Amino acid sequence: MDETRIEQNKQTYLSICRQLINREGIENLLAYLEEKTDFFTAPSSSKFHLNEPGGLCLHSLNVFHLAQKLHAQVVDTIEDETLKEKAQKITAENIAISALFHDLCKTNLYKPVERYKKDNAGRWVTYPGYELDDQLPIGHGEKSCLIVHRFMKLYKEELLAIRWHMGMFDMGEQSAPMRSSFYKALDQSPLTAIIHAADFLTSNCLEVTTTY
Ligand SMILES: [Fe+2]
Ligand SMILES: [Fe+2]
Repeated sequence: MDETRIEQNKQTYLSICRQLINREGIENLLAYLEEKTDFFTAPSSSKFHLNEPGGLCLHSLNVFHLAQKLHAQVVDTIEDETLKEKAQKITAENIAISALFHDLCKTNLYKPVERYKKDNAGRWVTYPGYELDDQLPIGHGEKSCLIVHRFMKLYKEELLAIRWHMGMFDMGEQSAPMRSSFYKALDQSPLTAIIHAADFLTSNCLEVTTTY
């Protein structure tokens, strides 16, 4: 991604935040992201979706746009009255906060490194890669919740959606009580499933992986 695109995505991200999020602390959170983190230039992963500069911001925008569409679809077509009521209560602000901040755990995490491989002629060549350096290894969604909470209060539905945005993919090594918590989180608000679905679809179907 070139610098112009990275800057455009940054401005889009900031303007959506300011348009949709009217909560005390939002400006402090945005200032933190701009001044103390690499959020706008970081990759979204080291080897997979959007593993390039600017990937994290673009991925967050992709999740936001898809989550908006999924929410509208859920509200339109859901038949269960209790779930419909819960889905209707989800605001544009809830979606913006959960989607745009779900992966803040990835800020200041990926360090650029030079990697080596053999080219077609068998010569060693270098290519750009990333290495993980987690300074606060406290979990994935959990860490995102903590970072946001330092600046701005989150409602329960937003906490659950951010915490569980990896869905069952966080579950491999987890205990039965943890799995039960995940299902309870899904029950509390459709926002949990919407953010998880948007994250899963964007990262697996919509976003490119650069191979070197
Ligand atoms: Fe994530
Ligand atoms: Fe994500």
